[in-house]
Parts: sequence; structure tokens; C-alpha cells
Amino acid sequence: MNPQIQKLHAIANKETRYIIGLMSGTSLDGLDIALCKIKNSGSQTNLSLEEFTTKPYDKSFQEEIKKVFSKDIIHQKSLVSLNSKIGLLHADLINKTLHDWGIPNSSIDLIASHGQTIYHYPKAYSYNNSIHHSTFQIGDGDHIAVNTSIITISDFRQKHTAKGGEGAPLAAYGDFLLFTNKTEERILLNIGGIANYTYLPHLQSIKKAYATDVGPGNTIMNQYMHKHYQIEMDLNAEVAKQGRLHQGLLDELLKTPFLFQNIPKTTGPEIFNLDLLFRAQKQSKTQNLSHQDIMATLNMFSASCISNTIKSEFSNYKNIAIYMSGGGLHNPLLVENIKNILQHNKIYSFEKIGINPDAKEACLFALLANETIAGNPNNVNKIHNSPSVCMGKISLPH
Ligand SMILES: Nc1ncnc2c1ncn2[C@@H]1O[C@H](COP(=O)(O)OP(=O)(O)O)[C@@H](O)[C@H]1O
Ligand SMILES: [Mg+2]
Repeated sequence: MNPQIQKLHAIANKETRYIIGLMSGTSLDGLDIALCKIKNSGSQTNLSLEEFTTKPYDKSFQEEIKKVFSKDIIHQKSLVSLNSKIGLLHADLINKTLHDWGIPNSSIDLIASHGQTIYHYPKAYSYNNSIHHSTFQIGDGDHIAVNTSIITISDFRQKHTAKGGEGAPLAAYGDFLLFTNKTEERILLNIGGIANYTYLPHLQSIKKAYATDVGPGNTIMNQYMHKHYQIEMDLNAEVAKQGRLHQGLLDELLKTPFLFQNIPKTTGPEIFNLDLLFRAQKQSKTQNLSHQDIMATLNMFSASCISNTIKSEFSNYKNIAIYMSGGGLHNPLLVENIKNILQHNKIYSFEKIGINPDAKEACLFALLANETIAGNPNNVNKIHNSPSVCMGKISLPH
């Protein structure tokens, strides 16, 4: 037997596994590296976050990704090269991080790598029947395995789409396993580039857990800041705070058809981008608004997409406790806007019930890898409208 298969077999039989979860979302801010200690699997899973860091991408790397990210036309050479390059960079960042933590690579059982999404094409976008609903993440797993000497599980989203799912949002199953509460009805809201939530009914409820995207997130705000200020984000909402919300522009943005689709649904910057803003400005005759006013409006647009969905989906929304994670939690105006719209809800940082909110998504990919190696695919079916599959491709270092 290939000794690497033997090793994998031994890892699958362990009671406790050390798994590094990697996440690099649509914000392109950097690579989240979460070292998780995971005991057991399925409903017995116990996850603790041992170490966490985010390694920021440098500007030239971000620019390289942006050349292929959610673009209709790209240079094939750039795409092929980036697939290897991202794998190599992620391996290098893991090696350096483990060195900094004083942890030998040999003590890590598995790496769970999300990769970098470069295009997401859910069913609802399929106006053109010749294009199959699909999603594409790059950052090759073999490159990570070979260069870290750690067995790597990557490309989680493909099997979900192969079984009829949308490939997103995937964090829901881990949310369900780890954070369902006996008596409290919960929404776990993650505000990355795109905002999504997992709904977790309390245990006595007959309602079903599900997950959905709701719209932007940080993505349009980031795109606007990048274009007009040449910086990646509206740090602490300093620009938006100087502006005033323009109701006409907001109303126009809120006409985006995605917002009227039934849940669960999924989206990306392919829809929520500066073209959408441009068209909304034209329709609302607000081409001359100041950058500050536009940022204030975009901030409220994100807050409204999130809050309006929650209000319209749950007649009892006021009784649901909301736990927030993702980079949007660090945008004080966005949090304030959400709290103003959902003023009756209990809204907390995710820290209150679990782990560091910035590490949550990376941890949940570690959990998915744990299920792939040790879990039972038939258990992964508690999420409404999501196929039961163990996800990811296995890359052996040798
Ligand atoms: N201090 C801050 N002020 C404003 N926005 C912030 C701040 N920190 C993070 N963000 C936002 O969060 C984003 C990163 O969020 P993240 O959850 O990593 O998203 P993704 O999963 O898409 O990578 C940044 O691009 C930025 O828009
Ligand atoms: Mg990120």
C-alpha cells in the first residue's frame, strides 16, 4: 500500500485530529489560517481553535487575482499560472506560520484548503442554457501538499455542485453541528465580501436549518474604495461616516433582482459590482453625488440587504438571536446600520458563542475536511436544500 494512503487511514482512525483550515474569500484581503483541534466527527464533533492568523496579500498579488476574478474574458495563461502560484503561496504562508508558532509540519494531520474563488455561476444566473451552473476555485491542492508535506483536502465546492447543490454557502453544516442551541433560535451572520447567514432553529423546533447568501457584504464598498481612493477598504467607515445616505440611490440599488429571489440563494461580485452602482446612479440621477455620500449609501445598502432579508423571512424575527462574524464586523457604521434596522434583536459578535469571528470560516472548512476523512456523508443532510456529500479532493504529498 502507498504509505501515504496508510497514513491517511491512520488519520481517519484517530480520535483527535489537528487540521489547518484555510480561507481566502472574495474580499481578497489575505489568507486566513486556523489551526483546529477536532475531536470525533458528526454530531459528536468537538472543535477548538488552537492558533489563528490572517496573512495579508501584497498589492501586486491582489492585482494579479483581480485580473481573472469574476471577469468574463481573461488571459488563459494568467489563469493557469495563478492556479499553481496561489497553491505555492498558500504552502509558503503555512510553512512560515507553523514556523512562527513553533509547530512542526509533521504534527499537522491535514490541511483543508478553500482556494480562491474566481467565478461563481449559480443556477439563478443561468439565463443562457449553454452555460452550466458552476463555481470555480483555484490554488491547486497538490502544490500545497507537496510543498508542506501535509495531506491536503481542497476544492470542496465541486462535489456539492456535482450533487445538484450550488457549491455555496458551505459553512452551514459546521454551523449546524457546532452552534445549534437547545432553546435559542439563532442566525449566524457572516459578512465577508458577500454576506450570508445560517439559520439554526432551536432543538425542539420542527423548523429546518438552512443557509443562504443575502447580497453584499463588503464587496461593492471595497470596489468603490479601490477605484476612487486606491485603497482596499473604507477603514473603520471613515469615508462613509462623512457622507449622507441618498434615499433615491438606495431605493434604486434595492431593486436589484437578486434581492427578490426566493431563499436559499447564492451570489457574488459577478452581480454586486460597480456596474450595478453605475446603472443605479443613472436611474436615480445621482451621478454627481460625492464619494462620501455614495459610500454612506453603499454601507446602508449592505445593511439593508442583510436586515430586510431577515425581517422578511421570519415573522418572529425579533426573537432570533444574531451572531456576527467576518470582516464586516469591523466596519462600525455597517454594524450600527444593521442594529438600527433590527433594533429589537439581540445582536452579538460571534465571539460570544464560539470562536474568533475572523477565524470562523477557516475553522468550518477544517470541520468539512474532518467529515470527509472520518464522517458519514449521510449525516451531512441536516441542512435544508443542501445535498448530503463529503466534500473535497485529497492530495497526497508524495
Ligand atoms: N477595520 C475595518 N473597517 C472597515 N472594514 C473592514 C475592517 N476590517 C475588515 N473590513 C472589511 O472586511 C473585509 C474582509 O472580510 P472577510 O471576512 O475576510 O471577507 P472574505 O471572506 O470575503 O475574505 C475587508 O475587505 C473589509 O471590507
Ligand atoms: Mg478574507
